[in-house]
Amino acid sequence: MMSENVAHSELDAIVDKATCQIEAAEAEAELEALRVAYLGKKGPITALLKSIGSLPADERPAAGKKITSSRNLLEDKIKRKRVTLQQIESARRLEAQRIDVTLPGRRYFTGGPHPLARTLARMQEIFLSIGFDIAVGPEIEDDYHNFEALNIPANHPARAMQDTFYFPDGRLLRTHTSPVQIRYMEKHKPPIRVVAPGRVYRCDSDITHTPMFHQLEGLVIDETTTFADLKGVLEYFVAEFFEEPLNLRFRPSYFPFTEPSAEVDISCVFCHGDGCNVCKRTGWLEVLGCGMVHPALYKDVGIDSERFIGYAFGLGVERFTMLRYGVNDLRLFFRNDLDMLSQFR
Ligand code: FA5
Ligand code: MG
Repeated sequence: MMSENVAHSELDAIVDKATCQIEAAEAEAELEALRVAYLGKKGPITALLKSIGSLPADERPAAGKKITSSRNLLEDKIKRKRVTLQQIESARRLEAQRIDVTLPGRRYFTGGPHPLARTLARMQEIFLSIGFDIAVGPEIEDDYHNFEALNIPANHPARAMQDTFYFPDGRLLRTHTSPVQIRYMEKHKPPIRVVAPGRVYRCDSDITHTPMFHQLEGLVIDETTTFADLKGVLEYFVAEFFEEPLNLRFRPSYFPFTEPSAEVDISCVFCHGDGCNVCKRTGWLEVLGCGMVHPALYKDVGIDSERFIGYAFGLGVERFTMLRYGVNDLRLFFRNDLDMLSQFR
């Protein structure tokens, strides 16, 4: 009887202690360590089971039953505690990963077309709407198309009007879009009604000049074209482009490839004609050159100058952009300053 009581109280003490520790466990690893310690091969419960053999035979079944049921009890407590710990852990993880769907979304900053790209698109749209086609030509030109064919022979003083960037082989960066007139006439017969936008290059830099800038060339050739048509088209274009009446001034000028020639000025939007440093105190800003196509240009491209007559113009895209958006320094367009560019989005 004595041995049974000892085993009994010893077993109860083990179960109580294990129960306390199982309840207190805070992590699955800790729980697993307890399981090994109490129920493993080297644990006290296993030791007690082994000691059954030393009991009197009639006590063995009862003692065996009691130890086994204690072992099952502890196993069960551990299993339950494991489930509780797993639930706590998964709740903690969910809490940590919680997404607050009521928070405002992240803003994405999208870019926008450069003001010059917008101006070019706008210009082409206006000319397309009145029946012009679009043409393009190379930025690296030969002397023939940039000068010779435009009635600007070598040593002609007009070459000094445009400071040219040359390549060692004699080719050059086109100084204007006028060579596209020649290239277009080489491939197309009149009637011609075309605009050619693109980059041009000159060795030039101040607040109204940059070494690379854009022009939009216009060329119209038909049987009855007049200077009045040229004036009408340009006036229509300027009114459409600025969406407000601006003063236009046709000023007689000289270009070897047009005769007669004119330059067109627009009243300065910065000083409204009073004179400022943008318009060099003149109250006007020169925006384009134009004139009636010089008959000399027709010869090489095989257009009959007795039958056809045309006009051409070349406008400064940056100048139009400055005037439309009130940008007082042309160089700002090429600085990639985001504070400046983002105002055009
Ligand atoms: C020409 O380039 C002629 N090819 C225009 C032309 C075409 C005349 C067809 C007749 C017939 P000009 O050098 O003036 O001309 O330049 C034309 C326009 O380009 C100027 O009115 C001005 O608006 C712009 N421009 C000229 N130089 C610069 C520059 N460095 N930076 C920005 N814009 C410029
Ligand atoms: Mg000029």
